[in-house]
Amino acid sequence: MEWSEVKQQVFAFESDIVVSAGAGSGKTAALVELYLRLLAGETSLGRALEVEEIVAITFTEKAALEMKERVRSGVRERLATATDKSFWDIRRRALPNAAIATFHAFCSRILRENPAEAGIDPAFSLLDEAEAGAELQEAMDEVIEGELRSRSDEIRLLLENFPLSGQGHGKGLREHLIALHRQLSAGVAGEAELLRLAEEWRQKALRRFAEEAGRLIGLIAEVRRILTGKQLQFHEPLRVLPGLYAASRLAPESMETPAEITAMQSCIAGNWGKEKPGRDSLSDCLENLELCSRQILNDPLTIALIGLSGKVKTAYRIRKNERGVLDFDDLQRITRDMLVRDTDLLNALRQRFSVVMVDEFQDTNPLQKELTGLLAGPGQRLFIVGDPKQSIYLFRGADVEVFSQAQREVSGRGGLNLYFQESFRSRQGIIDFVNRFFSMVMRGENPISK
Ligand SMILES: Nc1ncnc2c1ncn2[C@@H]1O[C@H](COP(=O)(O)OP(=O)(O)O)[C@@H](O)[C@H]1O
Ligand SMILES: [Mg+2]
Repeated sequence: MEWSEVKQQVFAFESDIVVSAGAGSGKTAALVELYLRLLAGETSLGRALEVEEIVAITFTEKAALEMKERVRSGVRERLATATDKSFWDIRRRALPNAAIATFHAFCSRILRENPAEAGIDPAFSLLDEAEAGAELQEAMDEVIEGELRSRSDEIRLLLENFPLSGQGHGKGLREHLIALHRQLSAGVAGEAELLRLAEEWRQKALRRFAEEAGRLIGLIAEVRRILTGKQLQFHEPLRVLPGLYAASRLAPESMETPAEITAMQSCIAGNWGKEKPGRDSLSDCLENLELCSRQILNDPLTIALIGLSGKVKTAYRIRKNERGVLDFDDLQRITRDMLVRDTDLLNALRQRFSVVMVDEFQDTNPLQKELTGLLAGPGQRLFIVGDPKQSIYLFRGADVEVFSQAQREVSGRGGLNLYFQESFRSRQGIIDFVNRFFSMVMRGENPISK
């Protein structure tokens, strides 16, 4: 393989590095090559690392296996051409135990090595994703049934607004609860934090509503002026607008407000000719009012949903405790807590792993990002690669946030933010096309007519 200049900069590894680049730009290939060069002692670290000194994390079991396989075949190649066979043979034999793993597999290893420090049974059993999902559903049913039996205000409000389970695009209560539970357990925010955010958003929406309502007064005056001109076609629906406005209350917390706004919106259709800018402002203003009003009216729902989701979390935790099992999030949370609490253990881990690498960093949730920061202390080297465009993150905005936070932190302590420009995937696409094209020409077919 050929390596671009930017990739050579990666292999020099003179500081922590964050690479941001698209799919097929050779990010994983560069990570594997860096791994091999670390083993070979070809980076600026100035010595050859042992397999045991490197952590390489990725997001799925499949990706971890693939990465291990790519490292293994690289080591085999080096072994084949090496003069010092025993050097590479030691590394080859160490590979089955290499810390090339998913976050939870890595945490699982650390916890099993340190059960006393973690305060867990070393033979803990782990729920896989499907089992955890089933357990969570049952915990949720338990909570919903309890709420229905006690006819709580929360459940009444929620079921007035959502079906129990969603069909089509409308999410139901259960789907909302599951989504919220994911956010909470991924460490995006705690319950208190969500409640605080909800209040902050509500205050913002109230302020914005007041501003836009003030702006609407001027726009309605403008409409009155337009209506005094020569009779035009768009005057017909518009004529009722000032009256609708006068009759409306536009109170941010009134249930009528969205309907009042919708009625006004239906008056501004048509071609306003040279008055178009006025129409655009009016349309923009009414749309903002509508959005703010919906947000304000939804606020009690948001709060009820957060409250219920807290109860589901507790019920789920109790069920897991009764069975003596952990799920993937528990593993990561317990590991994080243990490393925060136990500085000796943290330092020992940092001594042990000189280099920490994370592939597909765009999928990192805040808890995993915290773990990465704990593992990679000031005396170590960190290498992160990801494609911010490909995030599978559920929470809008949080995806880019975790990644760009990592970029800022790394450059803040003198590290590098790099970008790979090349795309091997598209090159492969062109190669495939050219091959297909010529094979058809050779067979005497007309490729253009296909
Ligand atoms: N330097 C390189 N030279 C030639 N081919 C490469 C190079 N780097 C990667 N490739 C090929 O491009 C494809 C995508 O590489 P990969 O590392 O998986 O990209 P990414 O992780 O950015 O999606 C793979 O088939 C890989 O073998
Ligand atoms: Mg990759």
